[in-house]
Amino acid sequence: MADPRQPATDHEDQDVSVIFAWERAGASSMAEDVLRNIGPIVLLGPPGAGKGTQSKRITGHYHIPQVSTGDLLREHVKQGTALGIQVRDLLAKGELVSDHLVCDIVAWRLREPDAQRGFVLDGFPRTQKQAAWLDAFLNFEFFENGKWAAWLPIVIRIQVDYNKLLLRITGRRTCPVDGTIYNVYSNPPRVDEICDKDGARLVTRDDDREEVIRERLDTYERQTTPVADYYQQLGRVVNVNGDQAVDAVTAAILKEIDGHASGAAEGTA
Ligand code: AP5
Repeated sequence: MADPRQPATDHEDQDVSVIFAWERAGASSMAEDVLRNIGPIVLLGPPGAGKGTQSKRITGHYHIPQVSTGDLLREHVKQGTALGIQVRDLLAKGELVSDHLVCDIVAWRLREPDAQRGFVLDGFPRTQKQAAWLDAFLNFEFFENGKWAAWLPIVIRIQVDYNKLLLRITGRRTCPVDGTIYNVYSNPPRVDEICDKDGARLVTRDDDREEVIRERLDTYERQTTPVADYYQQLGRVVNVNGDQAVDAVTAAILKEIDGHASGAAEGTA
């Protein structure tokens, strides 16, 4: 496991810079905004709950980056980096990547300049070890060094009926260029299989096959439900009903974040 107190080491230096350059391309205008601190936001929820969909809306609203461990790992696979080759089979089977690798990736990403006012963690933490690591990292990196007055994340759990998740995931299509998420049942593109914004042909994720989806849902129950319980016991979880229209879910989430951010993350940075 990466030591949260250590500066970034030489782990996959080149891989990491390539991936971050890709990720920042869509967020370049955000870095120039000088706005209030929002702090860390953790989105929890099973596969298909709408974490990616809502993350993009939150980042658009507050001009903070989305840090999706799934997207970062998939980009490593796509670009054929050493890390991508190492994790490719795990992703294809719906199993979790090791805590050590994922925490390293997150540490690198959260130290980037555009994450210093806050960020949305989408798909992280997913195990109790990752949650404990994140607490230590946030405390050290953002609180002890005086960047933020408070460092506790707001944890938003998006809840969706289990039976609907399968339909959501099998219907998902994603734009490989700008990452826009569609759904052939609930939010189809104007032209079949084509992105409305840039005309790219939409793709289906490798792990969105029915047999893999079941493994991912099982993995969530086994490994990530305890993370939600951990935050719940600490009184940090806000439950949001994800079984509503996308706009209604977004409104509920922004209301919670506004309440939290107005008092919690005003810092000196
Ligand atoms: P990851 O990419 O994180 O996938 P996931 O958690 O399985 O979540 P999904 O991306 O499937 O769903 P989502 O909640 O983002 O839903 P979305 O918004 O797309 O992880 C993939 C893999 O990477 C893991 O299996 C693991 O191998 C590895 N990994 C990642 N993080 C890791 C970590 N921390 N540790 C170890 N390994 C890790 O929405 C789904 C669909 O529903 C879309 O079509 C959307 O249009 C639709 N939709 C959304 N909201 C609504 C709504 N309100 N009403 C109707 N439809 C909706």
